[in-house]
Order: sequence, then structure tokens, then C-alpha cells
Amino acid sequence: MAKLTVRDLDVRGQRVFLRVDYNVPLEEKDGKMVITDATRIVETLPTLKLLIEKGGKLILTAHLGRPKGKREATMSLQPVAVKLSELLGRPVTFVDDCVGVKVEQAVAAMKDGDVVLLENVRYYNEEEKNDPAFAEKLAKVADVYVNDAFGAAHRAHASTEGVARVVAKRGGKCAAGLLMERELKFLGDELEKPAHPFVVILGGAKVSDKIKVIDRLLEKADTILIGGAMAYTFMLAHGVKTGKSLVEPDHKQTALDAETKAKKLKVNFQLPVDVVVATPVDTGKLNKKGKPVFDFTNVRTVSGDIPDDAEGFGIGEKTAARYAEIIKGAKTILWNGPMGMFEDPRFATSTNIVAQAVADATQKHGAKSIIGGGDSVKALKKAKLGDQVTFMSTGGGASLEFLEGAVLPGVAALSDK
Ligand code: 3PG
Repeated sequence: MAKLTVRDLDVRGQRVFLRVDYNVPLEEKDGKMVITDATRIVETLPTLKLLIEKGGKLILTAHLGRPKGKREATMSLQPVAVKLSELLGRPVTFVDDCVGVKVEQAVAAMKDGDVVLLENVRYYNEEEKNDPAFAEKLAKVADVYVNDAFGAAHRAHASTEGVARVVAKRGGKCAAGLLMERELKFLGDELEKPAHPFVVILGGAKVSDKIKVIDRLLEKADTILIGGAMAYTFMLAHGVKTGKSLVEPDHKQTALDAETKAKKLKVNFQLPVDVVVATPVDTGKLNKKGKPVFDFTNVRTVSGDIPDDAEGFGIGEKTAARYAEIIKGAKTILWNGPMGMFEDPRFATSTNIVAQAVADATQKHGAKSIIGGGDSVKALKKAKLGDQVTFMSTGGGASLEFLEGAVLPGVAALSDK
């Protein structure tokens, strides 16, 4: 059922409690936390601007990281308030709490069109527990509830689900923001009835993480291209040696079942024909998390068996070229998961070839390209092609769950049209 959106609301003079996903990457520089990618903030600006224009009082709530109920200074939303103000071109009042007197006082002083950002809602354990009393506290300053946090919509937390219930019970409206609406359109409606050929590119580490998506998309896609470490489990299932590569021996049958289903549904299911491998060497050093640091030597491309001393780090160039050729003819493309360890330039070539093919299909052949969030978005941005695709999701886990066909609690809680 279609959900109410901010377009349908009349919010003049009303307190709009707006959940956003400002879980942005931060880095410490000279003792200060600096935002390294503000995409998630930028993407909410249309919703904010519309609600400001409509004369609402905007009370923004968000989480940052996983502070587990503690006031972790490195996870404060204060730097986000500064960035938001800069991007919005108007003052943003930051309140260093998300419930209580300080919040109520700040909201009481608001005029129509004002913007307040509340401190990290996960500084309270009750948030992740979806504690009803905590949801009531949050809802104290809410006449209307808006959720623009697609990236957190798979969480049934107090600020994503509980507050909506409180507001709805009082007869208040709960609407989707414009970003939420776009995410649901591209990852939902557009893929429900895709223009054909529909090519799905799936990568990432594990078959077990992606099997539900594979299963669902096999019903819709013409072609599925498999890359990333999850390809090694498929290879293992076919009796190919995988050396030291990341594999899931318990999921060999899962992989074979997916291929059987593909055959039955006449889906062109492609596995890599070559793989970039390297020999891992323990440096004897430990990383920040106390895990051993490996160096990778003797980078080469192999077809067939991966040598015993080697580990696979992505699809080879022959595979990438083959995938690029298929992508060229697509009318709809969904990409979820990189084709290899693109963060390391020695293993990025194939992911970049695929990224370029997706961009070309979009720009030169009019294909609709939808990038399912997380690492595939990072890979595309790293290749400087982020502006050449149709849509990039701001969700990570949320996109994956939505693509699996799950009902997201943050969406379910919104009012129907
Ligand atoms: C994300 O970054 O994917 C979302 O903000 C959700 O964060 P979480 O996985 O900590 O709930």
C-alpha cells in the first residue's frame, strides 16, 4: 500500500519530528571529528527544504555509530549539525540530548521553519530496545512524524518505529520523506516491473548474506552476474580448488540450488571464468582491532583452480570484460556488492571495469541503473562514476533486506495514503 509522504502534509506551525539517517563516516583530525562523506546529509536536503517552505518546525533525530547506551564523545552528532547548517544555508540548533527538559525548552523557542538537531538517540539503550516509555518521551515534541531514514528503516527502534506508533495513536500523521520515497521507488517499484533485459550484478563476501536476494531476483532477472568472494563458494561447489580464499563450505548446496533454479527459470547465471589471486604473508603486525596484518604478494590472474598458497581477491579481467559486454545490452541494472577487494588498487581493476560498464549503459544506452547501497556505492564513488548512474541507495543493511522482499518496520509504521 502506498504511504503518505511529506508532499501530502500541511505542517504550518506544527512540530515535525523527523527521523534521518545521519550515520555518516567520521575521522579524527587534530582532535576533531571530521565528516568524510556527507552524502546521507545532502540527500535529506530536499525533504528539509520542503518542510521548511511549508512552515514546519523541524526536530531532527538520528543515530551515529553503535555507542550502546553510552555518551561516546566520538559519536556525537554535533559535527553533523555544523555540516547540516552549512549545507542548508541556515542555522541549525544542536541540543546535546534527545529527550527531556533541554529538548522541550529548545522546541518551545522554535519559530516556523526553524531546525533543531537532537543528540545521538543511541546514547540511550532504550532506543534499540524500542522501549515504549522512551518512545513516549521522544514523541513529547512531535505533532507529526516523518521518516526519511531509509538506511535505518530495517531497525524496529524507538525513533524509527515506536514514535510513529505513539503519534498515530494520538491521531497524528506519519509520513515518508522524499529520500525515503525515492529509495522505495527505485529499490521497490522500479525493480518490481523492470524494463528487460534486466541484469543483476551481485558481489560481496558471502553466499549466505546474498542468497535471499539471489532467490528473489531470479524470478525477475534475465541475467545474474556473480563476483566478489561469494563466487568462490560457487567454484568450490563445482569441485574447483579455492586455495586460501574465503569460502562457505556449508553453503555449497545453497549455491548449487541457486544455479538449478536459474536453469529452470532460464536465467543466464554467470560465474567468473578467471580470478585475481595473491599469496598472503603474515607481517607479524597487529591492526587496531588486534588482528594480524597480512601483506599480499605475487598478484596474478588464474583460470580454474586457485593454487593452495593463494587467495582470491576478485574477478579477473576476462570475466570483467565478459560482464561488461552483457551490461552494455541491459535496460535495467541492479548492482549490489563489489566484484573484489576494490579498496586495494591491485584488486580494483575489475570492479572499475564493471562500474564503467554500468555508467556507459546508463549514459550511452539509456539503461536505468540502480546501485543497492553499501560497498557498491563506495566502489562507484571511488571510480568517480557516482553521478553517472540513475540511483544510488543510501542504505546498507536496509537496502539488502528490502531487496530480499522484507517489510521494513520503519516503513510499515508510516500512515497509508
Ligand atoms: C547504516 O549505516 O547502515 C544505518 O545507519 C544503520 O546502522 P546500524 O547498522 O548501526 O543499525
